[in-house]
Amino acid sequence: MSGIEIEGGCRLAGEWEIQGSKNAVLPVLAAALLHAGVTVLTRVPDIADVRASVEILEFLGVKTKQWGHTLWVDASQAAPRKIPRQMGERMRSSVLFLGPLLARFGQASLPFPGGCAIGRRPVDYHLAGLRRLGVRLEEGGGEIQAEAEGRLSGGVVELPYPSVGATEQLLLAACGAQGRTELRGAAQEPEIVTLCRYLRRAGAEISGEGTPVIRVEGFCPSRQEIRFRIPGDRIAAGTYLAMAAMTGGRVHIRGISPSHLWAPLCAFRRMGCQLRLLPEGISLWAPSRLSALPFLATAPYPAFPTDLQSSFLAMMAVAKGESCLEENVFESRFSMAGQLNRMGAQIQVQGRRARCLGVERLQGGRVWGTDLRSGAALVGAALAAEGTSRVEGFEHVERGYQGMLPLLESLGAKVRKITE
Ligand code: UD1
Repeated sequence: MSGIEIEGGCRLAGEWEIQGSKNAVLPVLAAALLHAGVTVLTRVPDIADVRASVEILEFLGVKTKQWGHTLWVDASQAAPRKIPRQMGERMRSSVLFLGPLLARFGQASLPFPGGCAIGRRPVDYHLAGLRRLGVRLEEGGGEIQAEAEGRLSGGVVELPYPSVGATEQLLLAACGAQGRTELRGAAQEPEIVTLCRYLRRAGAEISGEGTPVIRVEGFCPSRQEIRFRIPGDRIAAGTYLAMAAMTGGRVHIRGISPSHLWAPLCAFRRMGCQLRLLPEGISLWAPSRLSALPFLATAPYPAFPTDLQSSFLAMMAVAKGESCLEENVFESRFSMAGQLNRMGAQIQVQGRRARCLGVERLQGGRVWGTDLRSGAALVGAALAAEGTSRVEGFEHVERGYQGMLPLLESLGAKVRKITE
């Protein structure tokens, strides 16, 4: 367990380059297993989830070397081995190794990625789609055993919901299938587009990424070296912009495409922030007090992302007027409302909606982040609060945010890590 102590009341100010995207690098790392040669990834974020993925790759016989933010991966000698429970259960995206293992070796065995603090998070769409591609699956004892007789067979797969993980899983599996796969109802997130760009470099013929219908032609693994740069993390950028907005700050973030953040940027503007958008950068100037947002709802991309819901709830807690936030992606994602209320916020949660009457200032206190995004949002709330706060559960934040403490210090914050 680790926590951080934050002295509130500073205005964040400064300029920096955003980290590489967590949600983009994880599927690309799984995809590197499909490629029977060397992949050199640059701008790899230094976060716990990347380290956990690299550990799984190495367990599967993949050689890796890392210097700075460059990761060299050689999957030529990879072999299918049963992924141990303690390795797979550490993060949900370990389930993404299923598709590449099946595509390359026709078999896979790995632990079920259990539930988590933001909801049930089942993988039924992943498994139903794989069955459609000819995979025989057995679930039991907290494990998934999967096998394909010969090669997987391409076909039409219709997703009941544009799940990001299921879309990635099926794209990865389809690369090893005989013939063409058509994925209908696919997720359209920028991370899907990034994964398709990588798979194309590895030899796949793909069209339609970024739309609800993606077509993939299976291919045989090549040995050609692939160099690939991970794009900037749109969610981390949004999280830090929210921290700046709450503290009356002024920041410029480089290395992020504003087009990946349209819905949140519109919401920042509606709350009174001024923005300057460059092709690869965003500047934000916060007003002396944010304005409430009468209604904001999360939904799959290109709508407002669920991963920024908690940061916006923290902003609404101190905005002038009454706001309403509706969560439509994960069922249990308002747990941090109670934590914000401990700091003096006035938030009432009813089902999918949180209604919030903004207060002038939050009061410092001891709060618990239970998942990565709510932990980061509580850090923002503590920065904006009066007095000293202690945010527990910082280990969740470190799963996805690279070097958050030194970065905040460089922007003027007074923060200190406490490890017990
Ligand atoms: C990914 C992101 C996560 C983000 C989420 C939604 C990564 C590593 N994580 O998670 O940060 O919050 O997208 O943008 O990229 N569902 C099912 N059955 C399934 C799969 C999903 O019912 O088989 C449901 C989930 O419970 C949830 C919804 O679909 O209610 C969306 O989940 P999904 O898009 O799959 O999220 P992840 O890929 O897990």
